[in-house]
Amino acid sequence: MESYPLMRYMGSKYKLIPWFYEAFSELEFDSALDAFSGSGVVSYLFKSMDKQVYSNDFLNFPSTISKALIENNQTTLEEEDIRALTNMDVKSDDFIEKTFHKVFYSKDDLVFLDKISHNIAQLTSPYKKALALTALFRSCLKKQPRGVFTISGNLEKYDDGRRDLKISLQRHFLEQVAIYNEVVFDNQQENQSLHSSIFEIDTQSCKPDLVYLDPPYVPASDDNCYVKRYHFLEGLSKYWHGEQIMEDTKVKKIQKKYTPFSYKKTAIEAFENMFDKFSDSIIALSYSSNAFPDLDTLVSLMKNQKATVEVKTKSHRYNFGNHSKAMRANVVEYLIIGKD
Ligand SMILES: C[S@@+](CC[C@H](N)C(=O)[O-])C[C@H]1O[C@@H](n2cnc3c(N)ncnc32)[C@H](O)[C@@H]1O
Repeated sequence: MESYPLMRYMGSKYKLIPWFYEAFSELEFDSALDAFSGSGVVSYLFKSMDKQVYSNDFLNFPSTISKALIENNQTTLEEEDIRALTNMDVKSDDFIEKTFHKVFYSKDDLVFLDKISHNIAQLTSPYKKALALTALFRSCLKKQPRGVFTISGNLEKYDDGRRDLKISLQRHFLEQVAIYNEVVFDNQQENQSLHSSIFEIDTQSCKPDLVYLDPPYVPASDDNCYVKRYHFLEGLSKYWHGEQIMEDTKVKKIQKKYTPFSYKKTAIEAFENMFDKFSDSIIALSYSSNAFPDLDTLVSLMKNQKATVEVKTKSHRYNFGNHSKAMRANVVEYLIIGKD
């Protein structure tokens, strides 16, 4: 489990994994749904615990990550795949180079992204495609200052001499492929990567013994929009097919995706509906002390569906580079577990 590559992702539970492992080890379950998978690290924990895993996110790039590392039990990128992927003597579209010129990365890096996107599309195995894209996402995150796509243009002030900012995206990609090839493993289960809103998951075909819920929370200030921070990766995951670039934005964003968890007026009802939907499963909800709705409200909503509700606590310091002071401060992390 220690080997899961750290993906700089807002709200990632990476650092809480040892604590989660202890908590989940006390529960009896054979299958688990990680309904808001993000970086995929919690799904990977379940996979390592030999559970049958359903991993879901309504964004395409997190679902691609879980296709590569959760659903995929065996496929890796071989020498000949890597050679074909990094063949730059191909005629490709130049959408990325044209669109993101002077926004993100150098010209060479942008050309590389166009060409490799073309080459990824030629792969026939969906798992190889997903694995190559996952390696590309981590490469892009490493080379983007602060790991978010809200900043662009002259980024010299962020250049602290880090190697990650200096080496080419192609070099990053080769390194990341080697890293991700190592973490593909078979847990002898039919795991599935899903890509939908939590409210549209079909509970006839996906009936997990346990569901882990880590939704975004209504932010105290700023906003918690994942598309705003990661629009470039979301676009890259599908070469922007079906997405409309908002041309008047400096960083060439795409439309944000509505989620009821981000707004005070819809969040409580969304939690109620979600608990109701998964009332036949053990429910494990992540919650942190700086969020809305408050802990008492969430516990009482869960009690409407579950006979016993236990709250586990741990203090946790977020290192994620968010400018709001609240996010940088120590917060208490809760795992609210509802059982029958
Ligand atoms: C707090 S993050 C999850 C972080 C994850 N547990 C990790 O450790 O990396 C919340 C995730 O919920 C996803 N999301 C937001 N609204 C959603 C919805 N209605 N249905 C499914 N996923 C949603 C976002 O795309 C984001 O990846």
